[in-house]
Amino acid sequence: MRAIVVNADQSLSWREVAPPEPKDSQIVIEVHASAVNRADLMQRAGNYPPPPDWPQWMGLEAAGVVKSAPPDSRWQPGDQVCALLGGGGYAEQVALPPELACALPKGLRMQEAASLPEAYATAWLNLRIEAELQAGETVFIQAGASGLGIAAIQLAKLLGAKVITSVGGAHKTEFVQALGADVIIDHHKQSIAEVLAENPVDVALDCVAGPQLGECLKSMKHNGRWVIIATLGGAISEINMNEFFRRGTRLIGSTLRSRSNALKGEIMAALEKQVWPAFSEGRLKPCLHAVLPISEAEQAHDILQRRQNLGKVVLTVK
Ligand SMILES: NC(=O)c1ccc[n+]([C@@H]2O[C@H](COP(=O)([O-])OP(=O)(O)OC[C@H]3O[C@@H](n4cnc5c(N)ncnc54)[C@H](OP(=O)(O)O)[C@@H]3O)[C@@H](O)[C@H]2O)c1
Repeated sequence: MRAIVVNADQSLSWREVAPPEPKDSQIVIEVHASAVNRADLMQRAGNYPPPPDWPQWMGLEAAGVVKSAPPDSRWQPGDQVCALLGGGGYAEQVALPPELACALPKGLRMQEAASLPEAYATAWLNLRIEAELQAGETVFIQAGASGLGIAAIQLAKLLGAKVITSVGGAHKTEFVQALGADVIIDHHKQSIAEVLAENPVDVALDCVAGPQLGECLKSMKHNGRWVIIATLGGAISEINMNEFFRRGTRLIGSTLRSRSNALKGEIMAALEKQVWPAFSEGRLKPCLHAVLPISEAEQAHDILQRRQNLGKVVLTVK
């Protein structure tokens, strides 16, 4: 089979590699589509190695058809699934624990379904499980037009929250408004901390952090939960600890990729049951910025690198 291999100079080649060898209860999927995540750019640069037991090639999600499954599996050859992966989605086939797969949302195409698992699992883990976001609460979502942002905004609205989000640029502002964001901060023109001071939040999903974090935390509501999932804006911030402890703020660090397959399986089951029907009913929508053949993975990465994407960039394999 073929997969995207990172060459020594960090260029990408779509070339022949050994096919997966499924272990124990694992199933093998024939990949129809995968999708690009910012973590792939870090992995390609050598800064985010895949966890043990996963292929060395990139790809945190895929949609496709089950090629093989053990006799006692929930899955059978021919089933259409989408799956959360520890890696290996940029390939013609991938082996995975069966609990990381779930049925395709009814009515969605493979390329749409491939864009969902990583962003929705991250949004579910952090908004539902870590921050326990409740209906009627206000949530701040950094980078609202990102692949993750579009999922987090839509999930938060589905859960009945008020959404404040940040974007860079007027065209991104219009895009997240159409997704239902209530307050939009164009960080090229406005100070995020100032807008949050006027609109205190209960929960934040933050992939930027950096120097502005301390200022933003100051205006959180009492018993707020601020979840850090990346540090695109920098790793260091100064926090006023008086404000922090008096308000009962909880600062939570979180990564999805390092969680157990058992927890990831629970998240995928929850998405299949509680979130996928909203796609079939048209209450949620996949947002594909671009769909490219997997042989053009370099061009796909370039779109994310330049911060051009409104939503997800998908790679088609079949
Ligand atoms: N911890 C976890 O488990 C987990 C899981 C999934 C994703 N993440 C993180 O969530 C973030 C979003 O992921 P994604 O795949 O959705 O990414 P993406 O589509 O590439 O979007 C990233 C966006 O972040 C915004 N941004 C703000 N400050 C930035 C900076 N200093 N440098 C670059 N971009 C900046 C940009 O939007 P504007 O131009 O609009 O500002 C950019 O388009 C990434 O940082 C990723 O690592 C973490």
